[in-house]
Amino acid sequence: MNTPLSRLFQVLATASVLHSPVARGATTPLPLQTPTRVTVGEQAFNDKSLSAAGNLACASCHTTATAHADPAGTFLPLGGPGLNQQGSRSSPSLAYLATNKPFRLDVEGRPHGGFFWDGRSNTLRDQAGGPLLNPTEMANTSMDEVVARLARAPYFADFTRLYKVAPNASNTVLFDTLRLALATYETGDTDYQRFNSKFDRVLDGKARFSVAEARGLGVFNDARKGNCASCHTSAVGADGSRPLFTNFTYHALGLPRNKAIQANRDPNFHDLGVCGPTRTDLTHRVDLCGKFKVPTLRNIALTGPYFHNATASTLEQAISFYATRDTDPARWYPLVNQRPDRFNDMPLGFRGNVTQTPPFGTLPGNKPRLTQQDTADLAAFLRTLTDDVNAPAGSPLVANPVQRP
Ligand code: HEC
Ligand code: HEC
Repeated sequence: MNTPLSRLFQVLATASVLHSPVARGATTPLPLQTPTRVTVGEQAFNDKSLSAAGNLACASCHTTATAHADPAGTFLPLGGPGLNQQGSRSSPSLAYLATNKPFRLDVEGRPHGGFFWDGRSNTLRDQAGGPLLNPTEMANTSMDEVVARLARAPYFADFTRLYKVAPNASNTVLFDTLRLALATYETGDTDYQRFNSKFDRVLDGKARFSVAEARGLGVFNDARKGNCASCHTSAVGADGSRPLFTNFTYHALGLPRNKAIQANRDPNFHDLGVCGPTRTDLTHRVDLCGKFKVPTLRNIALTGPYFHNATASTLEQAISFYATRDTDPARWYPLVNQRPDRFNDMPLGFRGNVTQTPPFGTLPGNKPRLTQQDTADLAAFLRTLTDDVNAPAGSPLVANPVQRP
């Protein structure tokens, strides 16, 4: 067996033996333990000295306490040498990405897979080079600068030994191996795929949903109501794999423009996801403008604010957007000539790309597909997706696939 899932399973099995639970967290020193490829990757992930000003690590914007999204209370992460440069996107959770595939367009030209909100990296290994060199993140000016910092790190000897880097290796090889180490940590550490939320325990027949949670799951799956599961997969896979609450596809939700984002002070700046401007290879695909990757909803209660542009600060607000975007647009969009300027974060010509399938697609003034009760129930259900960091990780496969809620 050499499916991605079985590989993940092998990595998890090794990681959980070697990796004690106290070893996690940006501020907790690593206890004495035999270093592994995973723990060395973790040290690099937590290492602020890899940034230009020595003040920012991967873990600064992807903390353990929030399923490796921004620290709680962060609007948008700040980076750069002075930690005062605002990026224009929220840091997504890094959990449950181990089985995501490289970016591809299917026969109908629809995008799948990839990393970042716009899918511009094909692998975690490719991705890891980005923040190290991004001037608004860790702000190194060259690969050589990163390697010079790495060579001074206390874990450098373990790094070269465990990753079998030759003594005369070039900076290109060292930099690429650092990216490999970061990706090895993000896929090999149990912290990134715990599969032990209440939802998982219900799947295993070890817990029961409350009445509100069960109703919430019903609304989530109902194609005429929430229809959430059509993008945020909730069913166990044919191979018994647990659902990741994303199908790794791309959609335009028509989110409101967030005026608190500095880049948006320029009325001509539009973050259009797959068609650019951050991503540069698909600018001609105007049908993809405004589309962003469907994120996992696992641990969603921990990862606010929500959406790529941090436009919803609470889970209830995020769900209310789905419920009332079309029935009460004045709640979400500013008035222009006394009419709500729907989908105002996209230039007029691209607004037709916005998805209209349920829960969307009702007319202003009509009854929303989701009642207030449905919204509350959905929130209750989504809170069952939070992993228990104090309990052992579950298997990525459902123990008894017959037990499906
Ligand atoms: C200043 C904050 C910041 C730092 C430091 C940072 N990131 Fe991120 N990270 C982000 C933001 C913001 C995004 C989303 C950016 C985008 O989609 O364009 C992101 C996206 C990602 C993703 C893609 C997740 C997905 O769903 O596809 C991965 C993986 C990741 N970061 C890993 C890392 C690693 C590894 C490091 C250290 C080398 C790091 N990050 C450093 C803010 C940060
Ligand atoms: C057509 C596909 C689709 C459907 C249906 C859908 N979503 Fe989403 N969801 C997305 C996409 C795409 C994003 C990211 C959008 C962005 O940030 O631009 C997202 C983001 C979210 C987020 C924010 C996640 C984060 O990390 O910031 C939440 C919460 C969410 N969805 C919940 C729901 C719920 C609840 C439903 C059902 C009522 C639902 N979604 C239905 C595609 C969908």
